[in-house]
Parts: sequence; structure tokens; C-alpha cells
Amino acid sequence: MSGRILVAYASKNGSTAEIAQAIGKELQSAGKTVDVIEMKTVRTLAGYDAIVIGAPLYMGSVIGDMGKFTGHYCSELAKVPVAAFVVGVAPKDPKPGAIEAAMGALTKALGQVTPVASVLFAGKLDPAKVNFVMRKFMEMAKIPTGDFRDGDAIAVWARGLPAVLKV
Ligand SMILES: Cc1cc2nc3c(=O)[nH]c(=O)nc-3n(C[C@H](O)[C@H](O)[C@H](O)COP(=O)(O)O)c2cc1C
Repeated sequence: MSGRILVAYASKNGSTAEIAQAIGKELQSAGKTVDVIEMKTVRTLAGYDAIVIGAPLYMGSVIGDMGKFTGHYCSELAKVPVAAFVVGVAPKDPKPGAIEAAMGALTKALGQVTPVASVLFAGKLDPAKVNFVMRKFMEMAKIPTGDFRDGDAIAVWARGLPAVLKV
């Protein structure tokens, strides 16, 4: 089935934006019509058959843009299939409970939106992009740094979306 899909993302340092673009490319390759748009600039959900939303984790929470988006478009998002992704270094964090905490933060940011699929992707944390105090905190807390994005995992998830979104 052909279908028009919105991939709405939030990103502070660009890595989630690149993941959103990669998802959009896969959906296009599957014959879908796709718009990949930063969620704070989205003005309407009219005309979309399905929505994919994604945002990164900062300090234990999904950045505020996602909560604002899901709150603002709550009634529209109840009428179309929604898939959600969250990005962080949690998959590389050996601390027990890191992945569960990341998925819990996604659920919180989704509010009343129930996704048909949700996933945590490993992101990119460049210590050069954070201030001195934060860098020291990250060292002390043993937070993993590097580009952990897995293009294959992202592509596999994106390829499965048309079936779960029924578009
Ligand atoms: C200050 C700071 C706090 C972060 N906090 C978390 C966190 O609580 N959990 C997590 O999994 N990743 C955390 N990260 C990693 C980011 O989620 C990761 O770098 C992500 O890819 C950033 O996405 P962006 O480039 O789209 O902004 C943090 C990164 C920074 C710089």
C-alpha cells in the first residue's frame, strides 16, 4: 500500500536528526511518501497516514520537544498509527537498568500516545560538544562516549515499519 508518512524528530546535536533521515530514506525506498521534519516546526498532521517520532535522551529524560509535540497533537496522534524511537548512550551503558530507564523516559514523553512500535537506538556523544563541568560529570559517572549509532539496526527497524504502521 502506498502511504504518506511523517518522520518528526527532535535533536540537539544532530545525531537524532541523521537517524530520522536514515529512517526516512528506508521508507522512501519502500515506496512511501515521506516528510522528515524537525518536530518543533511541524504545523499540521493532516494528510499523513502514519507518524514516526523520535528524540534523544538528556539527563535521564527525552528532550522536551517530544512531550510538547505529543501533548499538542494528542487527539490527532490517537487517530493514526505512531511508531517511536529514542536515542541515547544507554545501550552502551553497563549500569543495570539503563535500558529500562531509557524506555521509561520514552513512555513518559509519549504521554497518552500508545505507539505500535518503539525502540531505543544507540546515539552519539561527543565529549568535545559539552562544557567542562558536564565533561567532568560524564567522566565521573562513567558515561560512555563515542558514535555508537548502528546503521544496520536503524535500517532493519525502518524496513519493518510499513507492516506495523499498516501503510
Ligand atoms: C549532557 C548530556 C546528557 C545525556 N544524558 C543521557 C541520558 O540520560 N541517557 C542516555 O541514554 N543518553 C544521554 N546522553 C546521550 C545523548 O542522548 C546522545 O548523545 C544522543 O545521540 C544525542 O542526540 P542529538 O545529537 O540528536 O542531540 C546525554 C548526552 C549529553 C551531552
